[in-house]
Amino acid sequence: MQIERDSFTSKFGVIAAAAGSAIGLGNIWKFPYIAGENGGGVFLVVYLVFIALIGIPVMMSEFIIGRKAQQNVFGAFRSLSKSGFWQIIGVMGVLAAFFILSFYGTVASWTIEYLLLAVKNSFAGKNADQIGEMFTVFSTGTYKPVIYQIVFMALTALIVMGGIKKGIEKYTKILMPLLIVIIIYLDITAIALKGGSEGLRFLFNPDFTKLTPHLFIVALGHAFFTLSLGMGVLMTYASYFNKDTNITGTSISVAVADTVIAILAGVAIFPAVFAFNTQPTEGPGLVFVTLPNIFELIPGGYIFSILFFLLLGVAALTSSISILEVVVAYLSEEKNITRTKATIIAASTITVSGILCTLSIGPLKNFLLLGYNIFDLLDFIASNILLPLGGMLISIFVGWKLDKSIVIDELSNYGTIRIMFFRIFLFSVRYLAPIAIFFVFLYGIGLFSF
Ligand code: TRP
Repeated sequence: MQIERDSFTSKFGVIAAAAGSAIGLGNIWKFPYIAGENGGGVFLVVYLVFIALIGIPVMMSEFIIGRKAQQNVFGAFRSLSKSGFWQIIGVMGVLAAFFILSFYGTVASWTIEYLLLAVKNSFAGKNADQIGEMFTVFSTGTYKPVIYQIVFMALTALIVMGGIKKGIEKYTKILMPLLIVIIIYLDITAIALKGGSEGLRFLFNPDFTKLTPHLFIVALGHAFFTLSLGMGVLMTYASYFNKDTNITGTSISVAVADTVIAILAGVAIFPAVFAFNTQPTEGPGLVFVTLPNIFELIPGGYIFSILFFLLLGVAALTSSISILEVVVAYLSEEKNITRTKATIIAASTITVSGILCTLSIGPLKNFLLLGYNIFDLLDFIASNILLPLGGMLISIFVGWKLDKSIVIDELSNYGTIRIMFFRIFLFSVRYLAPIAIFFVFLYGIGLFSF
């Protein structure tokens, strides 16, 4: 059955959709909280190095494979290689998508609660302790977070059912720039807070004595997570790219935009952490217990708090649709079921495992596996193991397996544009990325030490 594939209508649409996937809770929720848990500045440095040296080349690799093959992850490797081995990337990718969307939906449900709290003006007049308490009471609850999670997953599924053009492009173009403007406004206020400079020092003054094996593996995992790499999301998107999308340029733009937003979020959050006496190691609730304190202080705080949590939810949505898309493309194109049916099956099973993640913050918090609750366990396995392994295989595939002429054709748009940074790219996908990932991995799980 040959179905005509959708494609993006404009160049901006491509970048907006890729950026829409990359920019999400990873930047505004996850980056600050894991940076906070891993020493701040030192984490930032390691993470930036991984983005530049590994993230961008792996992103380019996904784009090359996806646009060349014009298929979902499984079909792509089948059409580009005779060996069945590379299908493992697809298997790990679908598994990672499943795990990630489960806990992503949990945090997305928090944004819904915070949007409603903002509308009700519930942060007004509360001190930092009371705001912290609000988060604990809500997130450890049973019914509310579960219901919001179901709402969020249903929304995600509805958009994915609508198809690529209509569904994704429309939502990403206008709203993300607005989110950035609000974060910059928060930054300005945060920097001016009494005691806030301590937070900037925490984020920008690396203390290299805080380097740990765990930090390396978390920073690498986060480089993949925040750029949506390692499981074929961007590969699937690139299968919808036009012939004239500049792969190198798009990769660099997306990575830079993504990183800038993470740092801007950090600049709003860490000064508030120190000014309001929260702990940087607060954990997953960090953004939810710090920013409401700032909204109370700024002119227009009521409106901005509503807009912020609304747009954070939208940012989560544009990312979650890209995660669900991997599973749906797989089911619909590989198993030959309709897109609608595939979406319903994928979304409902992920909602079930997502509810377990949500409950693992509260009622099930003492249920631990390998020392992690379910939420953290799925995050660890997906972000820190499956994504980097997927990225390693993807870079090896492009560096060693794929015909160099295909790589050159894709990067030069069949000879119509000049290839930038080709040698660095080739060096990274052949040696640097796979070897670095391999060692970080062994180091992180303790099988190797300096
Ligand atoms: N990158 C997104 C974020 O930062 C999350 C995300 C979307 C993702 N698609 C992904 C993570 C694919 C890993 C793989 O919020």
